[in-house]
Amino acid sequence: MKRIFIYKRFERIWHWTQALLVIVLALTGFNIHYGWGVLEFQQAVVLHKIFAWCFVVLIAFAIFWHLTTGEWKQYVPGRGNVIEMAMFYLFGIFRNEEHPVKKTTLSKLNPLQQLSYIVLKILVIPIMVTSGFLYYYFNDWGVVGIEHWPLTPVALIHTIGAFALIAGMIAHIYLTTTGHTPLSNIRAMITGWEELEDESD
Ligand code: HEM
Repeated sequence: MKRIFIYKRFERIWHWTQALLVIVLALTGFNIHYGWGVLEFQQAVVLHKIFAWCFVVLIAFAIFWHLTTGEWKQYVPGRGNVIEMAMFYLFGIFRNEEHPVKKTTLSKLNPLQQLSYIVLKILVIPIMVTSGFLYYYFNDWGVVGIEHWPLTPVALIHTIGAFALIAGMIAHIYLTTTGHTPLSNIRAMITGWEELEDESD
């Protein structure tokens, strides 16, 4: 085995802050929607709005970091294909087959991760932020001439997006346990270092 440095400091802070914010936004959101949770409706709304702004600030930092460090290139497809990865996670992994795509510092995302993170970043998160802010500024829709729009589809899209994010998060947590050891990927996202098989011997 060899240890390689995979996740940089900003990336790790961003990852865990994003995870925490999605969880607290989901908790306060479902508190608003179903009355699940310990908060009064109004308290949940206020906290949801505060965490939403934190999320927007984090997204702005993350975009800046990806653009200035060139890390956005990690998402450009190139190595292997998504079907191969999906087949590995569905079948090969249970037959002890070799991982189809090796992780390196320069290329840490496999094709399935690239596809799911692109969908998350350019579809699900933007949909949540846009529907969330439309919801937030419902009383001001007249300013941009959309006061005749119904609120229900916006609320529905926001709630479906919340379920999609939670489902994605559960799948993501499961997949993190499929590394060299069940906790090695999570440990790597905490320390930055990951143990990988040494190809050079
Ligand atoms: C920048 C991001 C976000 C903004 C601006 C935002 C904004 C809002 C607003 C204004 C509401 C309505 C509160 C009210 O009834 O007065 C709401 C509801 C809700 N939010 Fe968000 N939100 C964001 C992200 C999220 C995320 C990431 C999740 C889940 C992971 C989430 C889950 C929910 C849920 C489940 C509801 C209840 C929907 C309903 O009852 O119709 N939100 N959000």
